[in-house]
Amino acid sequence: MPEPKESFLNPKQNNGLAITLLVDNIACLPYIAEHGFSVMVEYQNQHILFDTGQSSALYANSHYLKTPLKEVDYLILSHGHYDHGGNLSGVVSLSPNLQFYAHPNCRSPRYSHHPNKPTRSIALTDANLVAIESLNSSQVHWCEAPTQILPGLTLSGPIPRLNSFEDTGGHFSLDPLGHKIDLIPDDMAMWIETTDGLVVICGCCHSGIVNTLEYIKSLHPEQTFNTLIGGLHLLNASKDRMEQTLSYLNTCHFKRIIPAHCTGEHSMELLHKSLNCQVEKGHVGLRIIV
Ligand SMILES: [Fe+2]
Ligand SMILES: [Fe+2]
Repeated sequence: MPEPKESFLNPKQNNGLAITLLVDNIACLPYIAEHGFSVMVEYQNQHILFDTGQSSALYANSHYLKTPLKEVDYLILSHGHYDHGGNLSGVVSLSPNLQFYAHPNCRSPRYSHHPNKPTRSIALTDANLVAIESLNSSQVHWCEAPTQILPGLTLSGPIPRLNSFEDTGGHFSLDPLGHKIDLIPDDMAMWIETTDGLVVICGCCHSGIVNTLEYIKSLHPEQTFNTLIGGLHLLNASKDRMEQTLSYLNTCHFKRIIPAHCTGEHSMELLHKSLNCQVEKGHVGLRIIV
C-alpha cells in the first residue's frame, strides 16, 4: 500500500497537526476518487473528521490511509450537501460517541438547477438525517456563531456575505421549482491556530473564499495565515470574480494553498500561475503536516 504523500513547509515544524485528505475529486490508485470532500484532522490527540464525502470512497480510503473511522471524536459538517454529508450515518455507527457540529440549516431540503440538466435534490439523504436525529442531545452542537471545539480549533458558524462579487456558485434553491433561492447559510469553515499561523479548512466555500477569510481575519486580527485547504467552488466563477479572488489571496500571504474538490480545474491552474505562495492540487492521500 502506498504511504500518504506528506506536504510540509518546514520539516522541523511541529505543531502536532496533521490533515489527511480522505475524499476528493482527484485520486490515484489504489485510492478512490468521487465528487465529494472529507479530511481527517489529527490535533491534540483527537480525531476530527471534517465532512464525510458522498459515497463509499471514504471507507476504502480511510482504511488505506490508516485513519480509522471508529476513532472519530468530533464530526464536523461544513454544510448540508450530499457530497459532504453522504456518510454521516456510517461514521456515526462506527463512532457512536462522537460529538457532532453543524449549522441547523444543514437539514433543509435543497435543489440544484442547471440550464442543460434536470433539477436534482442535493440535500442530505433521509438516512443521514435520521443518523443526526439518533444522536443524543448532549452530542449535537448547532453552531450559529463561531464555536471553539478544542483550544485553538474553531468552527466559523455562518459567514457574513459582505462583497458584491462572490455568490454561492450556482443556482441553488429550497424548493424544486427554483423560486426560493438557497443562500446556503449553513456553509462554514474551520481553522486551527498554530505557532506558524492559521490553517484554514473549507468544504465548498459557498460563502466565497474572500468573505470567509475576511471573517476569519476580523476574528483574529493579530494572526497570519499559514495554509488553506479545501473546495473553493470557483468552477463557475466569472473573470471578474476570479481576478478579485486571486489578488485578494495574494494579500493574505498564505504559505501554502491546497485547492481541492469543487475548485475547478481551470481555477486551480489560475491559482497555481497567479499566487505568490506554494499551490499544491489536493488529492486523496495528501497528508498536510504543520
Ligand atoms: Fe461540494
Ligand atoms: Fe456544496
